[in-house]
Amino acid sequence: MKQKNWPWWRSKPINLQQTRLNIQEKLRKSGENTPANTALVLLCHVLKRSKSWVLAHTEYQLTKPEKDTLQERLTDILTGKPLPYLLGEWPFFGRSFIVNPDVLIPRPETELLVEKAIQHAKFLDLPNIIDVGTGSGIIAASLAAEIPGAAITAVDISMKALAVAKQNAIRLGLTQINFAITDLLSPIRGLFNLICANLPYIPSRTLENLSVTKSEPHLALDGGPGGFSFISPLLEQSRSRLAVPGVILLEIESSLGEQALKLASASFPNAEIILHQDLAGHDRLVEIIQT
Ligand SMILES: C[S@@+](CC[C@H](N)C(=O)[O-])C[C@H]1O[C@@H](n2cnc3c(N)ncnc32)[C@H](O)[C@@H]1O
Repeated sequence: MKQKNWPWWRSKPINLQQTRLNIQEKLRKSGENTPANTALVLLCHVLKRSKSWVLAHTEYQLTKPEKDTLQERLTDILTGKPLPYLLGEWPFFGRSFIVNPDVLIPRPETELLVEKAIQHAKFLDLPNIIDVGTGSGIIAASLAAEIPGAAITAVDISMKALAVAKQNAIRLGLTQINFAITDLLSPIRGLFNLICANLPYIPSRTLENLSVTKSEPHLALDGGPGGFSFISPLLEQSRSRLAVPGVILLEIESSLGEQALKLASASFPNAEIILHQDLAGHDRLVEIIQT
């Protein structure tokens, strides 16, 4: 009887190297951006081994349960499940964070916000910091780990996201973060030296055409008609919550830099306001410095 050529790893005894190359090819054909890395990470996940082990053991023969799991996971990816959700964790600023479909997948460009916050914190004694729209908690947890003595509040409107943020804080042994479910800053009292926010900022119409809408939470992405439905009210609320000295750091959508600058100066006419670009050269971060 002629054997089916899918799934190919069930029909023939092939080694790990060939398996990896076959997966890579499948991913490449499906339009995956980084097929070699995704194939390698997928094999590490299924075999519970390091990248170097997978690359070194070219002749290893996968067991039947390993082949079955591999087939399931590869099908997940080929049908659109993001790799971070499949792995259940994703790196950010040198640490690994639990992620699931209730939270946005950490993006490398958000590290810029964390770097700026750490730079400012060096000049502040025991700063009071808030992360608005914390999601998986990557900003709050990174700052808690990097800034000893800081008092950190992490808020989100999503109870499910906040549960993930709390799990991440526990996993990283960070006990100094206070979590709260809020709509932006509305029920929050006190003054903050650092207000950090990576809120939803993609204009609704732009979002309609993006594939992320299919897999990541709408609540984390949709910035309303102009992209400022959350950033704008946060700026207004921050007028009475920003300490002197104090800094606001806002991640923004790359096409909205100039508008973001105008909004920031309308709320903080006497502050120094700087627009920063990410590593790809896109407008990404608004820094408002009040002295
Ligand atoms: C773009 S995600 C960012 C998550 C995380 N800070 C990060 O950088 O990966 C935006 C987050 O803001 C939250 N959010 C949306 N509207 C909010 C609101 N009105 N108040 C507080 N958080 C909100 C969402 O639930 C989501 O977790």
